[in-house]
Amino acid sequence: MSIGVCYFPEHWPREQWKSDARQMAEAGIEYVRLAEFSWGVIEPTPGNLDFSWLDEAVDLLADYGLKVVLCTPTATPPKWLVDDYPEILQADADGTPRNFGSRRHYCFNSSRYRAETRRIVSSMAAHYADHPAVVGWQTDNEFGCHETVRCYCEDCSSAFSEWLAAKYDDVDDLNEQWGTTFWSQQYTSFEAVDPPRPTPADHHPSRLLDYYRFATDSVVGYNRLHADIIREHGDWFVTHNFMGDFETLDMHKVSTDLDLVSWDSYPTGFVQDRRAGDPSMDELRAGDPDQVGLNHDLCRATNDAPFWVMEQQPGDVNWPSHCPQPGNGAMRLWAHHAVGHGADAVLYFRWRRCLEGQEQYHAGLLKQDGSLDRGYSDARTAAEELSAVDAGHVDASVALFHDYDNWWAIGAQPHAPEFDYWEHLRCYYRALRARGVQVDVVHPDTPLEDYDAVVAPGLHLVDTKLADRLTSFVDRGGQLLVGARSGVKTPANQLHETLAPGPLADLTGFVVDQHESFPEDITLTVDVDGDEYAATVWAEWLNPDPQTTVVAMHTSGPGAGRPAVTRTNRGDGSVTYCGVWPESELLDELVTDLLSRGRIEFTSRLPDGVRLNERDGLTWITNFTSSTFEIDVPTKDIVIGGRTLGAYDVVVVSTVPHQISISREAL
Ligand code: GAL
Ligand code: ZN
Repeated sequence: MSIGVCYFPEHWPREQWKSDARQMAEAGIEYVRLAEFSWGVIEPTPGNLDFSWLDEAVDLLADYGLKVVLCTPTATPPKWLVDDYPEILQADADGTPRNFGSRRHYCFNSSRYRAETRRIVSSMAAHYADHPAVVGWQTDNEFGCHETVRCYCEDCSSAFSEWLAAKYDDVDDLNEQWGTTFWSQQYTSFEAVDPPRPTPADHHPSRLLDYYRFATDSVVGYNRLHADIIREHGDWFVTHNFMGDFETLDMHKVSTDLDLVSWDSYPTGFVQDRRAGDPSMDELRAGDPDQVGLNHDLCRATNDAPFWVMEQQPGDVNWPSHCPQPGNGAMRLWAHHAVGHGADAVLYFRWRRCLEGQEQYHAGLLKQDGSLDRGYSDARTAAEELSAVDAGHVDASVALFHDYDNWWAIGAQPHAPEFDYWEHLRCYYRALRARGVQVDVVHPDTPLEDYDAVVAPGLHLVDTKLADRLTSFVDRGGQLLVGARSGVKTPANQLHETLAPGPLADLTGFVVDQHESFPEDITLTVDVDGDEYAATVWAEWLNPDPQTTVVAMHTSGPGAGRPAVTRTNRGDGSVTYCGVWPESELLDELVTDLLSRGRIEFTSRLPDGVRLNERDGLTWITNFTSSTFEIDVPTKDIVIGGRTLGAYDVVVVSTVPHQISISREAL
């Protein structure tokens, strides 16, 4: 369990590097990530490669016992390269080039840029091939940041046509699968299909979905180019730093070429810019543990291995709309929280606040004058505590389905602005986590043998193959909870000929009669055994088969008296379908029922902001709030901390979650 840091020696005079390395070592830092935006320094003019500065920095860090993760510097092609080859630039949907002057301006499908990438990555990998301090590589930096997965340039247009030609038998097949008779959208050749550029009305949803898939595949190919070259030169791990709650890049696909999945975590920014609802003061100070945790669990489960947090918020940041100081201890808390979810290393971004450029308002572990900032002591404490911990595997009995095709398909036709795929998924995740349960966030194609329960919210695109897999999971005694809008469409994004849930209808034991959507502030009600529960945004009226149990009935509107939630049992297995967007009480009913059926242990309901993470008998208790809680565990089991869980604090105990009890009320 290690702590690391992202460092930019190229921003500072060489005389300073030594004291930087010494202070890193003093803080207990083990890994240093370097060079992700350094192309302009490595190759100041075409063909004149200069690694001397990087050699010196790597050697110096190595002298202090630090290990280096190098990055390919391709996120920032230098000005001379853009001037020589302006065709490498991305374009907006309206054709406007994404010009030089920030970062991520290159197109993944530019053959010229791929050649330049091959050149710079090969030189760098060859240069560091035998360096013992270089332990691994990060490809590029945050593929797709600043909305750059989807490019609309001419190179992408031709590449899209080729991608379609490889996918479909012929253009008639494409016309058939998309359904292009609607509004006379038939194509006569693959070349005639261009990227979805501005149109008077909405785009065809099947064309959009394929464009989104194509755009992700373009990044997959570009990442593979890096990974292959790096592996040709050394026996290193290859990773990429993904972003949190990030829609446009399919992490599952990119990760097939990586040894290690990593991601960048900025909790106080995420609650502001990628989540519904206004953040509370506590969330502005520490973030939302379930928002962060969902990304940790996705990264861990993606390659079924420990992951890294490659960039961890070090203090206040520059990019959200507001930039509060994190709570005291929050930077330590985030490192522990990540490790509890299965991270093996957490690297703070960045070492030192920058004097120049776009991120002057972004904290580092050090201030710009070299004095220690708030994050430094948190990082040092975390490093000391975590180096003493020997944590095992995260063993989750519950799988939560997550996939990008469903996200994109629902996103293309949300049918209510509030129907956000990721928010919907997160509400199920939150309910599970509030019961102290470990969750693997997996792609629906993942083998399900190791799971007792599967939760599948928004499983919108379903074919018979997936329906068959889920049926055998339930037939083998698995417990399945399926959320609204499932089984509606084919993988090509057309409605099934049969009523929803289409191929799942035999398994679930009903069909959807009607669906309707509402603004978020409208509360819908359903009845479960005489108790009323709230739902919002989405409602379906279900027509159950005779053997299907009705769990909840609508009690409002024209659907009153119609089933909203149903259950069918098959041997020891069961499938529950929830045809509304459930609010927290109904969610808790649904997940506790699921867990009980699967004989999965769970805790009493945890206070908001307090979460439990278990790694093989060792449990992290984290508090993302400014309140204090009492923990009831035997003193002999306490590994880090005490029986009082303070504000933004963490306690680690050698016992399993369901044996821990925490006062629900703050002290
Ligand atoms: C990340 C990015 C870093 C830096 C950081 C600031 O998204 O990878 O280079 O910009 O945000 O918080
Ligand atoms: Zn392009």
